[in-house]
Amino acid sequence: MSEDPERTFVMVKPDGVQRGLIGEIIGRFEDRGLTLVGAKFVRIDRDLAEDHYGEHEGKPFFEDLVEFITSGPVMAMVWEGQDATRQVRTMMGETDPAESAPGTIRGDLGLDLGRNVIHGSDHEDEGANEREIALFFDEAELVDWDPIDDAWLYE
Ligand code: RTP
Ligand code: MG
Repeated sequence: MSEDPERTFVMVKPDGVQRGLIGEIIGRFEDRGLTLVGAKFVRIDRDLAEDHYGEHEGKPFFEDLVEFITSGPVMAMVWEGQDATRQVRTMMGETDPAESAPGTIRGDLGLDLGRNVIHGSDHEDEGANEREIALFFDEAELVDWDPIDDAWLYE
């Protein structure tokens, strides 16, 4: 295991679910060496959506964002690994898929700002990962386990 493992919250948004991209996205995190420690396939309600995106309340796109994120099921997950929050954000690309580099999730799988396939905790917002994990998961729903390839993933 990494000397300094970190957990981060990731969600395949309703567009990613509808487009059949759950497996592709999970595969990218597995291939990178991150460890899945929690997952639930759910349709989130308005209260949870407003809490989750609370930082954007009052912005012009807030209503559309809440509407969209509650419009269908999402795949909510917790991934663990060294520097996980920042590494996941790097793998995601920019907020706008049109500005995202090829090779990133949004740069490979999306085209439109309002349909950007995936959410990941903001690494620049201290504690956002832990707050978001607690919003979506009880502690008992997170699984502590040791993948056998850890010895080859970390020095
Ligand atoms: P997310 O929280 O969904 O992972 O996305 P993010 O950190 O990359 O971007 P954030 O600034 O947190 O914005 C949340 C979502 O709101 C939509 N958005 N629309 N019309 C606009 O100017 C605008 N800005 C942001 C995006 O769908 C973004 O993912
Ligand atoms: Mg954000």
